[in-house]
Amino acid sequence: MQLYLDTGNIDEIREIAGWGVVDGVTTNPSLLAKEAGRGDYRALLKEICDVVKGPVSAEVTAEDAEGMLRQAKSLVNISEHIVIKVPCIAEGLRATAMMFEEGIRVNMTLVFSALQAILAANAGAAYVSPFVGRLDDIGHEGVDEVEKIRAVYDNYDIDTQIIFASTRHPEHALQAALIGADICTMPAKVFRQMVKHPLTDSGIKRFLDDWSKTGFSID
Ligand code: E4P
Repeated sequence: MQLYLDTGNIDEIREIAGWGVVDGVTTNPSLLAKEAGRGDYRALLKEICDVVKGPVSAEVTAEDAEGMLRQAKSLVNISEHIVIKVPCIAEGLRATAMMFEEGIRVNMTLVFSALQAILAANAGAAYVSPFVGRLDDIGHEGVDEVEKIRAVYDNYDIDTQIIFASTRHPEHALQAALIGADICTMPAKVFRQMVKHPLTDSGIKRFLDDWSKTGFSID
């Protein structure tokens, strides 16, 4: 499963990408609101693309298809890595079909049902992002919806990639992998939680204590 970092923060991206585990980045207007005052948006996106060298999702804010296409054309000029996030509404589907014709990759966002995911794929989206955590928040089993999308896409050999999104905790990441999501996008906090295990920490301590008794050295 590929792992994306869900943030607009360049420091977090440098840190976690430095582990060698980040395949791409997803941003959205709310994540970018946290970066307000930290310079130019296009420069930030370029910097993210240069660090990650993989797909970087940037969302359009226009509400009509023509406006979305215009914004998408401007954003893809920043880097070959830019993928356009388009909301799953009728105008978004229309925009996705137009972007598909232009060779622009779309990540259909704000997807909450397998039915929406079918439409996204038929419109030509390269990626679909079901928001699992937000479904959980309203008392649904978000993971079940991703499972349905996986089953439907497999039934028809649909190559739209499923991005397990709105990931809230490491258990979500494990569920994403077990279901067969192509990608899981996660905040830096979840990456940091995933790497931690108390037995790893106590194991290192014991090995170092014992090593100090050997009198040996490596270099
Ligand atoms: C994904 O692309 C979205 O940016 C993100 O996962 C939304 O997550 P949230 O529900 O925590 O805002």
